[in-house]
Amino acid sequence: MEIHEALYTTRMMRRLRPDPIPLETQTRMIDAAVRAPNGGNTQRWHFVTVDDPVLIREFAHLFREARDLEYAKFESGSGPMATPAPGSNIAAHADTMRRMKGSGDYLADHFEKIPLLIFVFAIDDLGGANIYPAIWSLLLAARAEGVGGVMTMVLRNFEDRVNQLLGVPAGEGWKMSAMLAMGYPRGKWGVAANRRPVHEVSSRNRWDAPFGLEVPEPLWPPHRDATARLATVG
Ligand SMILES: Cc1cc2nc3c(=O)[nH]c(=O)nc-3n(C[C@H](O)[C@H](O)[C@H](O)COP(=O)(O)O)c2cc1C
Repeated sequence: MEIHEALYTTRMMRRLRPDPIPLETQTRMIDAAVRAPNGGNTQRWHFVTVDDPVLIREFAHLFREARDLEYAKFESGSGPMATPAPGSNIAAHADTMRRMKGSGDYLADHFEKIPLLIFVFAIDDLGGANIYPAIWSLLLAARAEGVGGVMTMVLRNFEDRVNQLLGVPAGEGWKMSAMLAMGYPRGKWGVAANRRPVHEVSSRNRWDAPFGLEVPEPLWPPHRDATARLATVG
């Protein structure tokens, strides 16, 4: 797969088929993940794959409970999902949240049918900086295999129970960074178009100076008239 196609279309997929993901495919995903940059190349990461239906059922209960907690925070105006970036469109954010809640409900309601969970652990992940490159590489490698999924963090609300269910040696410093719910998607891959464009989130030399080019539409897939879509400003 062409790298830009992977970068532009690796969306979070929450409507997943129950079909198992072959072990060889899982291996290729994790093998790509461990090539990711990490501070000092200490590689303090560990991936626990879960495909045991009994265990997945346990996590389904826990996931629904954890999600309820997160949405209660959201509805009270706190938590990571409540506040869009300064200057962004509040109505667009509300619309995104409504759609995300809909596909999140589907994931939660069909959790028992998810074929693969990947729990990612790290020691001292530097606020995520030391582990998210590997997680993103894993998701991109999955995309190349036609496998989709979603990165979730809500189970960190029940870290002790997760550690207990998976036998994590937490005393060594391992902490859960994320849980990836993975499967072959029911829907189609599409460009992540619901993003603020480059010129709205970038500037040149000074925070309040223009970046220099305007990008009214995503630059992939390539357009025959691509230069016409980049307007020089400032
Ligand atoms: C740190 C992080 C945590 C996330 N946690 C969740 C989560 O708990 N549940 C979920 O459904 N999606 C979660 N997501 C996925 C985001 O909701 C998703 O990337 C965003 O809505 C944009 O959607 P798209 O990537 O499909 O374009 C998370 C993403 C990141 C980077």
